[in-house]
Amino acid sequence: MNSNLEILFAEYRKEIDLSLKQLQIPGEPSGLYEPMIYSATAPGKRIRPLLTFLTGEGLGVDHDRLRPAALAVEVLHAFTLVHDDIMDNDTRRRGLETVHIKWDTNTAILSGDGLMALAFRLLMETDAGRIRQMGFEFSQAMLEICEGQALDVEFENRLDVTTEDYLSMVGKKTGRLLGLSCQLGALISDADATIVENLNRFGIELGQAFQIQDDLLEMTSNSQNMGKSLDSDIISEKKTYPLILMLSGLSIDDRQSFLEFMKKYLDNREAILDVFQRKDIFTKTSDKIAQLMNNALKRLDQLPSMATENLRYLVDMISKRQR
Ligand code: IPE
Ligand code: IPE
Ligand code: MG
Ligand code: MG
Repeated sequence: MNSNLEILFAEYRKEIDLSLKQLQIPGEPSGLYEPMIYSATAPGKRIRPLLTFLTGEGLGVDHDRLRPAALAVEVLHAFTLVHDDIMDNDTRRRGLETVHIKWDTNTAILSGDGLMALAFRLLMETDAGRIRQMGFEFSQAMLEICEGQALDVEFENRLDVTTEDYLSMVGKKTGRLLGLSCQLGALISDADATIVENLNRFGIELGQAFQIQDDLLEMTSNSQNMGKSLDSDIISEKKTYPLILMLSGLSIDDRQSFLEFMKKYLDNREAILDVFQRKDIFTKTSDKIAQLMNNALKRLDQLPSMATENLRYLVDMISKRQR
């Protein structure tokens, strides 16, 4: 354990939390701005802004110059969560009620739109020569997240989703935002195009691993620990990584019956977990997470080790996460 880095990351998180609280968001109309403030300041792990800070600093940029972009990716993330919770019918997020439950769906749609606009405005406060490319990548990443979300929904109605399909989908819905977070730090530093793209790929692979961890925790952890509702994956027939492994060993007819079995035993997790354990699926899932994390780390080998030391430590912390 490197306690210096743990302290540094905790300080960065505190600073991000404070900056989010101090965002210039007006009070009126309260139907728009209250839920925006609620979502942007709700307690999250702040992984995306940390990636922007660590990437940019590793490449020599001053901390303060990275702040607008770091806040932009966190606010963009908050936006995706608000709309995702409507799409997934979830009631809890970050230990709080979701916006569409606390208010209503229209409020969640509109405050999500507001957060997206705010994110872009924050990004544009960046003082960087390549701000135009940053705007382009930011918009492109948003589009790819939408693509990922569209595929995620499409997969709910399919029984033949492969692990390749899944990795492509989560690379977009989750990975691309982590990739963007790194890319922006690198663009502010004026790094070569190959370095920028390498860091984007690093973020995408880290994001794929992160999403599989999320799928796994969503099955094996509890709602209290995760701070969010956990039943919706099963109810919506989400094709999570462990489920795809399970279904791939069954005939097409048995696949639908298995989904019904999971729904029937929603309140008896032990029974569900037991079946997955007997097929060794959690071990295989953990192996895949480790493999993707290693792929991500290999991307960093192409940068000077000084530039990536802190990023590597963050990956290590993420690999051990329990929520
Ligand atoms: C949640 O992301 C959505 C996924 C990509 C799984 P995080 O787990 O980073 O959520 P917060 O920001 O800490 O709440
Ligand atoms: C996370 O999707 C990705 C986005 C929000 C774009 P999930 O739906 O898998 O994440 P959780 O479980 O709601 O956090
Ligand atoms: Mg969701
Ligand atoms: Mg979702």
